[in-house]
Amino acid sequence: MGHHRDDEQNSAGKPKAGVTSPEVTRRGFLGGTATAGATALAGIASTAKEAMAQEMEAGGSETVDVSLVINGGPVERSLDARTTVLDLLREELDLTGTKVGCNHGQCGACTVLMNGTRINSCLTLAAMADGARITTIEGVTEGKGELHPMQAAFLEHDGFQCGYCTPGQIVSAIGCVKEGHADSEAEIREYMSGNLCRCGAYKGITEAILEARDATRSSDGGGA
Ligand code: FES
Ligand code: FES
Repeated sequence: MGHHRDDEQNSAGKPKAGVTSPEVTRRGFLGGTATAGATALAGIASTAKEAMAQEMEAGGSETVDVSLVINGGPVERSLDARTTVLDLLREELDLTGTKVGCNHGQCGACTVLMNGTRINSCLTLAAMADGARITTIEGVTEGKGELHPMQAAFLEHDGFQCGYCTPGQIVSAIGCVKEGHADSEAEIREYMSGNLCRCGAYKGITEAILEARDATRSSDGGGA
């Protein structure tokens, strides 16, 4: 495919008399554009940088006071406004039973109960949980020193392999039952679908929930 030839050029490719060389014009134009563009970009970059710096400064120094009940005990903290419930549990309170998986709301490893309902703690800011009751895997037995029926059923039915997803699965299973979504195997599978298990222990997990369902419904645990 041939290139379109500029009208200002003659057949030899030379500039016509009286017409400024397109090379010079183009070069000059590009040079000018580049200079103007660079100046404009530098201006935009510095404005954006300043805005970002201000935002970071504002975000970094902003703290919120939160007051919650975690596993039955009162917790009060001044936290960076960006702290998630997951961070609060693991980093501040050393409650490491709640696991970090994807950190993006996609795996369920971080499941805890907030006022008896399941949440992904990696997606929930501590500030949003102010005043709430949070139950983690450490709190499902409410300090009674024995396994929750759901924990016992997971053991009995081999509802885990590596165990990494298991705290989230058990808390989620308790929530699933308490929310009234465990009437059938199909319903359990549907309402537990937010908790992924890379080891594929789903069969044992479902069997465990079916077994522990009645005892869980009548139990006080789970913060529900
Ligand atoms: S770590 Fe929260 S959903 Fe995966
Ligand atoms: S038991 Fe390994 S990820 Fe579920």
